Amino acid sequence: MLARDPSHPTPATLPDSFRLDQRVSLVTGGTRNLGWNMALALAEAGSAVIVTSRDLHAAKLAADAIRARCGVETLGLELEVSRFDSVAAMSAAAIAWKGGVDVLVNNAPGHLGGRPTDLFERAPSSIEEMVHGNVCGTLWCCRELGRHMRDRGRGSIINIASIAGLLGRNRLMYDDHGVPEQPVDYAVSKAGLIGLTMDLAAKLGPHGVRVNAISPGGFDDGKLDRGFVSAYGKRTALGRMGRMDSDLKGAVVFLGSAASAYITGQNLVVDGGFTIFH
Ligand SMILES: NC(=O)c1ccc[n+]([C@@H]2O[C@H](COP(=O)([O-])OP(=O)(O)OC[C@H]3O[C@@H](n4cnc5c(N)ncnc54)[C@H](O)[C@@H]3O)[C@@H](O)[C@H]2O)c1
Repeated sequence: MLARDPSHPTPATLPDSFRLDQRVSLVTGGTRNLGWNMALALAEAGSAVIVTSRDLHAAKLAADAIRARCGVETLGLELEVSRFDSVAAMSAAAIAWKGGVDVLVNNAPGHLGGRPTDLFERAPSSIEEMVHGNVCGTLWCCRELGRHMRDRGRGSIINIASIAGLLGRNRLMYDDHGVPEQPVDYAVSKAGLIGLTMDLAAKLGPHGVRVNAISPGGFDDGKLDRGFVSAYGKRTALGRMGRMDSDLKGAVVFLGSAASAYITGQNLVVDGGFTIFH
């Protein structure tokens, strides 16, 4: 949100600038892991929250759980992000709920897709699915909700990219622990989101809408091989993988709120220093 927006006056104090009361935030794929924790963070900052899932029942359950925990209004919506008709229907329903969306977090789909993940063994359809879902899905959400924000003259879009979009990955650590490597097409799709972020920020900035990316490093979902988690941690400056339930929450509230009113087109790397540690 931009501080010059008359309907959202400049916050009185620094802590106020991180608040999201009277705002509506939408997190795609907000029912588990990082998406769930970002949705919780936005709710803890006072925002009404919409979460989406391919499974409407799962979206509604997550929305109910956030409402119970944080006392904010919530809505669960169905979204298959790789289909434009689904993105368009979800966006229309999100806008209709309370008359507008202030913060859009493009988190889904992001997954590693089918196996094998090695480019030379990988099915062409898996490559296509990855790039299509991450790039077209995010672009379509930006199209439908970015247009709405442009017309309204305010909003904050946050694209969840990855450090995979910033650097090449040494496969040894994965091979050593029997963990499937990140596919090259994952890096392609996440680098695409960083480019999308800069150019869309340039396009929407004059209309009062900010667009930023967050690039997480490796986060531990508790299901990873423990040897891999330890080896990965040693490759970060802070000596550990990211914590799912806490390490992304500050970044998303910062970029969604007036605390970052003069920041647009940026890629905030949240990786414990993985990318600077050699
Ligand atoms: N976990 C990590 O270590 C890590 C690191 C860097 C970046 N990221 C990025 O962060 C984001 C979240 O990661 P995560 O680990 O929580 O992922 P996750 O796979 O646990 O969650 C992804 C969410 O997207 C939803 N989703 C999947 N396919 C979908 C589709 N076709 N249409 C609509 N929704 C779909 C899932 O249901 C889920 O809610 C992703 O964009 C991921 O690329 C994660």
